[in-house]
Amino acid sequence: MKVAVVGGGGREHALVRKLHESPSVESLYAFPGSEAMSDLARCVPLSVTDLTGITDFAVKEGIDLLVVGPEVPLTQGLADAAEAKGIAVFGPVKAAARLEGSKGFAKNLMKKYGVPTAAYEIFTDKEAAKAYIEKQGAPIVIKADGLAAGKGVVVAQTVKDATDAVDAMMKDRIFGESGGQIVVEECMVGEEASLLAFVDGKTIVPMVAAQDHKRIFDGDKGPNTGGMGAYAPAPVLTDRWRQVVEEKILRPVVDGLAKEGIPYKGCLYAGLMLTDKGPKVVEFNCRFGDPETQVVLPLLDGDLAQIMYDCATGRLNPKDVHWHKGAACCVIMASAGYPESSHKGDVIDGLDDVEKDGSVYVFHSGTKKEDGKFVTAGGRVLGVTALGDSLQDAISKAYAQVERIHFDGQQVRRDIGQKGLKHLS
Ligand code: AMP
Ligand code: GLY
Repeated sequence: MKVAVVGGGGREHALVRKLHESPSVESLYAFPGSEAMSDLARCVPLSVTDLTGITDFAVKEGIDLLVVGPEVPLTQGLADAAEAKGIAVFGPVKAAARLEGSKGFAKNLMKKYGVPTAAYEIFTDKEAAKAYIEKQGAPIVIKADGLAAGKGVVVAQTVKDATDAVDAMMKDRIFGESGGQIVVEECMVGEEASLLAFVDGKTIVPMVAAQDHKRIFDGDKGPNTGGMGAYAPAPVLTDRWRQVVEEKILRPVVDGLAKEGIPYKGCLYAGLMLTDKGPKVVEFNCRFGDPETQVVLPLLDGDLAQIMYDCATGRLNPKDVHWHKGAACCVIMASAGYPESSHKGDVIDGLDDVEKDGSVYVFHSGTKKEDGKFVTAGGRVLGVTALGDSLQDAISKAYAQVERIHFDGQQVRRDIGQKGLKHLS
């Protein structure tokens, strides 16, 4: 198969790395990819939102499978455009990508099909939203309806913070059009976990559960980021809860969408809160998570390209999806200033010193090459992943690699995986 990956971050580096190992892959492309993955895939300088450029190139090169990493091209209809040209796509069509592209759409779908999630109201009028907030009281959660690069959620501890957030989104339009509509929802309490699943329109095969670390500082302090590290499997999602999530969340959403005439295929990402009343949905994403992918895919024991092609063509077989024993831990190394800003051009030392025994992966999220050396080129710079026989092994090994890498201003959380260890002890 000729396979092309859309995207150029750490998630896509992990996708390309795993696809490169797939026996069924004959050649690999990335749009635009990155210098760090250029030894694994032919990188073609096309933007992820250049739908015409990507689909034209794919037709010309005879690409058999297009794998879409980020949400933006999916919500713009890349899967629809590629399928119209006869290309198989791992990733949902535009109508199904609304599950991530519109929080209101996702909430209404969940309500309609009885999926457990926080109680909510949707508003297009800011005064009505504020009146509702006054009535409900704090804590309360305000969400911009549309995409906001992971920044569109405010968990407000006071009514004032909540109404300020409404003004910021609806009056000042800090997220542009995404703030034209907002969701105000109940604040849930519990531990979070991410369950990603392969979906082919009907068949659902959940992956190993992962746990992200969204805040910048240890102990879940400080502002939200794209994710500062992850580990898998996450023991907080016990086998019993996994089954509940599959039956009460993934199944009704996939069946519900199919009933509405929009079969979902690709990766369905359920962001979960494990409340004292059981798992509830925080959000859905229509693609692989970042950094969850950097721990989940290295644990996959199977031909990823074939599994993805089977999802794209409605032939997913649960028997083809297996997982290695043990655990994976990914520690993100971020640049100075992140998450408010990022610092570019800091030279990264020590990349050649990481262990090369096949159980360590350094995925590049935001780097580029200058004078033959990798330098920082984004907020999240590297995802350092290690596999281990146990979660403790994976954590120790990942941090041992992090010690060998250095760039000025680097920011690293020191407690990735600790919540998992607590559940195991
Ligand atoms: P999201 O971008 O939807 O994943 O939200 C970002 C973060 O906000 C989540 O990871 C949660 O920590 C938090 N969050 C979102 N919705 C809620 C909620 N209803 N209750 C409590 N926390 C929430
Ligand atoms: N790790 C969170 C996300 O990918 O949205």
